[in-house]
Amino acid sequence: MFQDLFDGSDNHLRTRLDALSTSYDAASRNSLSATGLEQGWRCWEIGGGNGSIARWLSDQVGPDGSVILTDVTTQWVESDGRHNLSVREHSVVTDDAPRSDFDLIHARQVLAHLPQRHDIVHWLPSCLRPGGHLVVEEFDLEQPLTVVNAVSETAEQPFEALHKPFIRLLQAREIDTAWARRLPDQFIAAGLDNVVTRTHRQQWRGGSSEIALHRANLAQLSKHLLDCGVAQRQLDAFTTLLDDHLLRVWSYPLVSVFGSLTVYP
Ligand SMILES: C[S@@+](CC[C@H](N)C(=O)[O-])C[C@H]1O[C@@H](n2cnc3c(N)ncnc32)[C@H](O)[C@@H]1O
Repeated sequence: MFQDLFDGSDNHLRTRLDALSTSYDAASRNSLSATGLEQGWRCWEIGGGNGSIARWLSDQVGPDGSVILTDVTTQWVESDGRHNLSVREHSVVTDDAPRSDFDLIHARQVLAHLPQRHDIVHWLPSCLRPGGHLVVEEFDLEQPLTVVNAVSETAEQPFEALHKPFIRLLQAREIDTAWARRLPDQFIAAGLDNVVTRTHRQQWRGGSSEIALHRANLAQLSKHLLDCGVAQRQLDAFTTLLDDHLLRVWSYPLVSVFGSLTVYP
């Protein structure tokens, strides 16, 4: 399962969480702002990773609001001692929800990894106040990450030689790499209204801070990739390519799905 691929206590995970923040926090902040986020809101950040989104939420909701960050591993969370931010060790699979009147619930890159994802999306709306918002963000990992401006005409080959087994590795662990495409229908089935879907993607340059996400994935998964038949020289070629400033590759598309609980008169 996911945990045996991405060990939560592994230092590489910290690097990976930071790379996720660098590459996607701006897009997530835009999505969360689009809900009308304001002072006084009560927010739940599920699987909050290093805490960067929760800290930003705590700034947005101010002293009258509150943010609860939950994660099975809280060792990488930086909360900066904020009074309106509480950090809890908690599994969204096995533990009860912290409360049932949230204005906003957000989960990025958490649920697609969990086999119970359908059930979780089904009950999460019951933790919203009427009019409250659910925002779930996942990668659509089945869109190609075509190399758009490569160091050489053959650069796509070393990129794909690693990317394809990486996706197969996730799929073999029950991670639904195309779940983001089905999420809007699941929001509707769960009783949410005003369901809107947006996708964010950008070009990453070789050697950039954003492309560090590929490097961090590789650091965590190289052993598994070698076990699947990827050759060491392919890992080396991929690593070299990621450092080349001439490389341009599309980022993983982050699909943000929004829905709200209708207020009945
Ligand atoms: C890929 S990271 C994403 C972190 C963060 N949401 C972000 O986008 O930067 C997945 C996070 O989900 C957490 N997680 C895994 N299983 C969980 C569970 N059952 N309940 C809550 N969090 C979980 C992991 O510990 C990790 O912090």
